[in-house]
This record gives sequence, structure tokens and C-alpha cells, in this order.
Amino acid sequence: MSSLIEWIDERFPLTKVWNEHLAQYYAPKNFNSWYFFGSLALLVLVNQIATGVWLAMAYKPDASLAFGSVEYIMRDMDYGWLLRYMHSTGASAFFIVVYLHMFRGLMYGSYRKPRELLWIIGVIIYLAMMATAFFGYLLPWGQMSYWGAQVIVNLFSAVPVIGDDLSVWIRGDYVISDATLNRFFALHFLLPFILAALVFIHIVALHKVGSNNPDGIEIKKGPKGNRWSPDAPADGIPFHPYYTVKDIFGVGVFLIFFTAVIFFLPDMGGLFLEPPNFEPANPLKTPEHIAPVWYFTPFYAMLRAVPPMFNSQFPGVLVMFASILIMFFLPWLDRSPVKSIRYKGALFKIALAIFAVTFIVLAYLGLQPATPTKTMLARIFTVVYFAFFLLMPWYSKIDKTKPVPERVTQ
Ligand code: HEM
Repeated sequence: MSSLIEWIDERFPLTKVWNEHLAQYYAPKNFNSWYFFGSLALLVLVNQIATGVWLAMAYKPDASLAFGSVEYIMRDMDYGWLLRYMHSTGASAFFIVVYLHMFRGLMYGSYRKPRELLWIIGVIIYLAMMATAFFGYLLPWGQMSYWGAQVIVNLFSAVPVIGDDLSVWIRGDYVISDATLNRFFALHFLLPFILAALVFIHIVALHKVGSNNPDGIEIKKGPKGNRWSPDAPADGIPFHPYYTVKDIFGVGVFLIFFTAVIFFLPDMGGLFLEPPNFEPANPLKTPEHIAPVWYFTPFYAMLRAVPPMFNSQFPGVLVMFASILIMFFLPWLDRSPVKSIRYKGALFKIALAIFAVTFIVLAYLGLQPATPTKTMLARIFTVVYFAFFLLMPWYSKIDKTKPVPERVTQ
């Protein structure tokens, strides 16, 4: 075995990569359960690619065959139902895990110097995930697939001057049609591999600067030397075996929930698979109430909250895109002298709690049919959503922070 590894090492840096990124990657010793979600996101990405490629072997990206091919997978193909539910549940699980992963970043200030680029790559990953999910949702060619895509692609017609041409270019037709389905399938197959490449860059960026931790202090800057190496940070432990074992425990807990949903509640009461999508797409029959899948609804609520201007929906579209793009600026909006919520003051804690509630309320409102009261609520919560970011330079600066310890606390 050792001579085989030696043979490989002379031709490929196998041991070097293993050491740098696992055995001698020194991670802070105080990671808590919030640090499970990065590796879980990786697991779900692998699940999506594996089940997706298998589904693609039986799926037909043709408007007259697509719905039927999904029914075939569900009813006739051996374990087809399992593959499909692993994939559809995986899509929602991906967003749950990534939302928690991002929330961890918000709590511990993981987006702050020197991790700005790591965060920015994360936001790009998030955008790519949204695009992937959007393209994928058209594929079963159900009523909600069809009309959801119709609504979202129509938003592009609100862009001044080029809008109409732009939406025709995206669809490849004047309405969502076979041409649209074909290209969405191609893009839905491609994007996960781009996601995988982005995740690789994400990890390279992480390993360049090192992990943050719940105390928000840099272990690389602290005293050196631990029982594994005199040069390693004193508060670091090798990623393998310590965090590989810990992450495997996280995987176990995750799989309990994940499989419970797959086997007992695959549509999650209409949240993960929406009832109108069990009916084939019908361009002549608009569903009574069109709502995207839950992970898009906070942004959909913001889109609907903004009133049209000069008969154009463009302001709403701008607000929706701005609500995501504003995340890019987070590293420069936080002016607090400390990173972690543990040492931040009441102002930041209250702001973050309000933000979390706002995101959930907007998600709920986006799922509901618009009524005057709900639209008013959506307007208020949209303002609160943006206030969290735009007022951050102010409240994070005047907030009363606590002294930060020199070394990580246990
Ligand atoms: C496919 C999606 C993603 C995967 C597979 C992924 C993977 C990972 C992994 C494995 C880690 C190291 C372990 C950990 O800290 O949990 C990590 C850290 C990190 N990720 Fe992600 N990530 C994803 C999406 C995102 C997104 C959307 C953001 C933010 C917008 C983000 C921001 C960060 C940050 C700031 C860290 C460093 C955290 C710290 O050290 O405290 N990631 N990511």
C-alpha cells in the first residue's frame, strides 16, 4: 500500500492534498452544531447530482412526453419513486441546509475580513442554486411548473426597452413551450456541475484563510503549538479525524429527517411538491393561485409588495433582485469591532432576530394569495428586510459590544 502511495505521490500530490485539506487542516476546536451545515450542503449536492443523472436516463424533455415520463419513473421504473423523491426532497433540503449555513455566517460574522471573498463566492453559489431549482421545476411539466415559469419569465418583459425581446429570447418562443422545456433541461443538467466547481473554489478560499468559529476570533493569530504540530495554532485540531467523525454524526441526524420525509411525507403537505403539479401543464387553464416553491417565496412576496409604476412591474423586479444582491455587500456593512454574536450587543442581536422572523413571515406571505392586508404586511416586512442591511453600518457601530477573549472559549 505504502509503495503504491509513494508511486502516486511522485506523479500526483495525493498525500500533500490529503494533509493540507484534511489531516493537517487545523480547524478551531470550538465548532458547534451550526458547523454541520457546510458538509451537509455538500452531501445534498452529491445526492442531487447522483439522483438527477439517474432520473435523466428515463426522463423525456419533450412537452408531449415529459409529464408522462415522470409518471413512468414514479410507477413503472424500479425504485424510480425513490430516485424522484430523493431528488425533489433533496431540492428543499438543499435550501434548508444552505439557509442555516448562511444564518451561521450571520451569527458568527463569518463574512468579515478575511473571509469576504468566501462569503461572496457563497452568494454566487446561492444564485446558481436558485437558477438550478428554477430550471428544474419546469421539467415535470405540471400546471405549477408551467405557470410558475410563465410568471417568472414574464418578469423579464418588465425590463425597459429590451424586455419583450429578452423574455422571448429566454423562452425561445412567445409562451413557455417545448423549446423552453428543452433548454431548461439542458441548463438544469449543466448548472449542478458549475455549482460543484463553485463549491470547490469556496473550499479553496476557506482553506486559504482558515475557518471562523463561534467566538469569531482568528486562531491563526493566536499562540502556536499543539500536540500534533509545533507550528499549528494552539486552538486548532486536525480536521481528520476530529471533524470528519463529528460531521458523520451530523449526516446521521440529517438522514433521519431526510428519509422520514422521503418515505412518509414526500410532498410535505404541498410545500415540497405543490398539488397543481400533479396535473399536466395546460396552457389554456391558469391555476387559481400561482405560488413558487417555499424557498423562493420570501423574494416573491417582495416582488408582489412593490406597486407597479407607470403600469410596469419593473420596480418590483428591481427590489426582488436587490434583495439578493444586497447580500454581496454584507462584509462592508457590518462595522462592529467584534465578529461573533457572542460579543455583540443587544442591537445586533435584536436586528438579527427581527431579520430571521421577517424572512419567515415573507416566505409565508409569498405562499398566500394576495389580499390588501397581506400586501400591506408584505410591504412593511420588505422595508424591515432592507433595513437590516442598510441600517447595519449605523446600529453595528453604536452597539455596545463585550470584550473578546484572547483564546477560544470551550
Ligand atoms: C452548495 C452550497 C454550499 C456548500 C456545499 C458549502 C460548503 C461549505 C463548507 C464545507 C464549509 C466549511 C464547513 C462549515 O463551515 O460549515 C463552508 C464554509 C463557509 N461557507 Fe459555505 N457552502 C455552500 C453555500 C454557501 C453560501 C450560500 C454561503 C453564503 C452566502 C456560504 C458561506 C460560507 C462561509 C462564510 C463559510 C465559512 C464559515 C466559518 O468559517 O465560520 N456558503 N461552506
